[in-house]
Amino acid sequence: MHLPVVISALTALGGLATAIPVVSSRDSHIDASDFPNPSADQLQTIFKVADGKLGNAPPPPKLDKGTLTALQFVAFNEQFEVAFFSSLVNNITHEVAGFEFENAKKKEELLDILETVLAQEKLHAINAANSLKKFETFVPQPCEYRFPSTTTKQAIQLAELFTALVLGTLQDVAFLAAKNGDAGTVRGVTSSLGQEGEQEGFYRILLSKKPSEKPFLTTNVLPFAFSALQQFVVPGSCPFPLKDIPLPIFPILNVLTGSGESAIESRDQYLTFKTDLSGVEAAKKYYNGNGEGLYITYFSGQLVPFSVPIQNVKWSGETVTFDALLPYAENQMDGLSVASLTTNNTFAAPGDVPNFTLAAPGLIQVADRTKAWDGI
Ligand SMILES: *[C@@H]1O[C@H](CO)[C@@H](O)[C@H](O)[C@H]1NC(C)=O
Ligand SMILES: *[C@@H]1O[C@H](CO)[C@@H](O)[C@H](O)[C@H]1NC(C)=O
Ligand SMILES: *[C@@H]1O[C@H](CO)[C@@H](O)[C@H](O)[C@H]1NC(C)=O
Repeated sequence: MHLPVVISALTALGGLATAIPVVSSRDSHIDASDFPNPSADQLQTIFKVADGKLGNAPPPPKLDKGTLTALQFVAFNEQFEVAFFSSLVNNITHEVAGFEFENAKKKEELLDILETVLAQEKLHAINAANSLKKFETFVPQPCEYRFPSTTTKQAIQLAELFTALVLGTLQDVAFLAAKNGDAGTVRGVTSSLGQEGEQEGFYRILLSKKPSEKPFLTTNVLPFAFSALQQFVVPGSCPFPLKDIPLPIFPILNVLTGSGESAIESRDQYLTFKTDLSGVEAAKKYYNGNGEGLYITYFSGQLVPFSVPIQNVKWSGETVTFDALLPYAENQMDGLSVASLTTNNTFAAPGDVPNFTLAAPGLIQVADRTKAWDGI
């Protein structure tokens, strides 16, 4: 069975359950001529709107191959973010249906903030591309994108979700740079990580959530983020073969449990997952089995990855549906958790998980119990 072309807003990023209606949308709009290759004048304007400039430290003498791959991912991700925020700014500016505001001041405030975010994301992307150019490495160029959101609120929900995943993934970028002896990269990466965290706090407030999600934000790994982003890329639209970014792409793990903004309730419970394992060689020996030897492995905060067995396994061709425990209480799993379907249940570190993964990510956002005060 083929995945439908239509995707729902939050399942888009990897199976997060949601009440957002399933819609089809295609929006490849990157309006400005100032991206990804601004003229010198355009760059000065971007700096003004972004409230700051690019870093100007000289390039390090070398960058490891693994670090360059991480920077290719950063460029790919930031180009998606530029497209997303430029579409959102465009929709709000032109009062596209679903993006209108009754309160003109609120519209003005949001636009002011989002235009700044857009310029900042442009600089994040340009910064990664500049590093790659210096080392004469492949620099990904923007693809065409499609977004499932059709209202301001859905768009902010989506921004909150992908930014949470990015906040986890930039930890991996900094970790890999450090591991590869590329200390010169770490300051800039963590600088942008904090910046994305500031954005995230704002989106969370708009969604009536507490701005600070967890004491230590949930980690993630590059292959899972790269896989999640594919849902927003119009298939075949990238002006380069995706394999030029040497990261695996896993089938998305859909989370069928839960609905609406509050997503998953904050209690121990069994979640239902579904994934299409067509073409996943390592999955073949599990076809039509009872799921023995398969696990859901979770990233939550800075906990060492932990796994639970899967059960109630139902196959339909190469698509499998099953249940797995969300061990909420024991692990205080508030905020984002990243789930993967794995063939191992013992991991020392997040980076060990992709080698044993069949499908990922499944994104789980546990409901926030705060009272609304400044939402949209
Ligand atoms: C902008 O509006 C179009 C038309 O409704 C929609 O398809 C697209 O997803 C919207 N963009 C964002 C970022 O929500
Ligand atoms: C699980 O991974 C560990 C190392 O992380 C390895 O020692 C072990 O052999 C793996 N088990 C299986 C079943 O692959
Ligand atoms: C993953 O597997 C490949 C090939 O088996 C191996 O070279 C690599 O070191 C493994 N990575 C990790 C993090 O274990």
